[in-house]
Amino acid sequence: MSAVHAYHGQGGDIFAAHAADGPHNAYTDRPAMLALAGDVAGLRILDAGCGGGHYAAEFVGRGAEVVAVDGSATLVGHARALLGDRAEVQQHDLDTPLDFAGDASFDGVVCALVLHHLTDRARFLGEVRRVLRPGGWFLLSTTHPVSDWRYFGGSYFDESWVEFPQADGLTMRFQRMTLESLVTEVLDAGFVLERLVEPRAVEALRAINPERYVRLTERPSFVALRLRR
Ligand SMILES: C[S@@+](CC[C@H](N)C(=O)[O-])C[C@H]1O[C@@H](n2cnc3c(N)ncnc32)[C@H](O)[C@@H]1O
Repeated sequence: MSAVHAYHGQGGDIFAAHAADGPHNAYTDRPAMLALAGDVAGLRILDAGCGGGHYAAEFVGRGAEVVAVDGSATLVGHARALLGDRAEVQQHDLDTPLDFAGDASFDGVVCALVLHHLTDRARFLGEVRRVLRPGGWFLLSTTHPVSDWRYFGGSYFDESWVEFPQADGLTMRFQRMTLESLVTEVLDAGFVLERLVEPRAVEALRAINPERYVRLTERPSFVALRLRR
């Protein structure tokens, strides 16, 4: 299993709590991606890298059928606890083929804040395309290259693996990528880019955490793409 150590054990428990109602996940990334999804009623959706299952819960609540997978046994446990029998949740390493899924078997795939952890993005993107039906959508979010550049410094074009210390003493490992690499890789995989969004915190965060609201509306944290197969 690659690059998921920050999400195992205690790290997984901490992430699941952050994802439930933290400023970055609940008030910035997720609202932007859910807006990009639009109406999902009746669709069959794969949540690739589901974490604690918060996306899956939103989609199920909007009438979709969801298969959710994650590499961390801890987070699979959280997702199962959140979703019960409302979605199918499996442990799966996304650096390996999506062998549990047939060709063109999903109407939509969501992959939120996972791509930068993967070691073979080209193979993963090819697999997402394989399991999507023609015309199906792929929602993809990842860290914003400008945010990473601001934090790590050096060359903007440096695409090395980095260690990102978390406030809780854990270390998250991921690979920096430029905006050019991200867009080139998804186009090379055969997707059509329909929309690119730089999510900002939603208004509801202002009253809850004014300082974070200002930061997350002034500085880019994530980039989100809506792609079409
Ligand atoms: C920042 S979290 C995002 C979780 C969820 N998509 C969300 O937005 O709440 C990143 C997730 O990617 C998962 N992950 C990282 N590398 C993975 C891999 N190779 N295979 C499967 N899951 C992986 C982690 O376990 C973690 O749940």
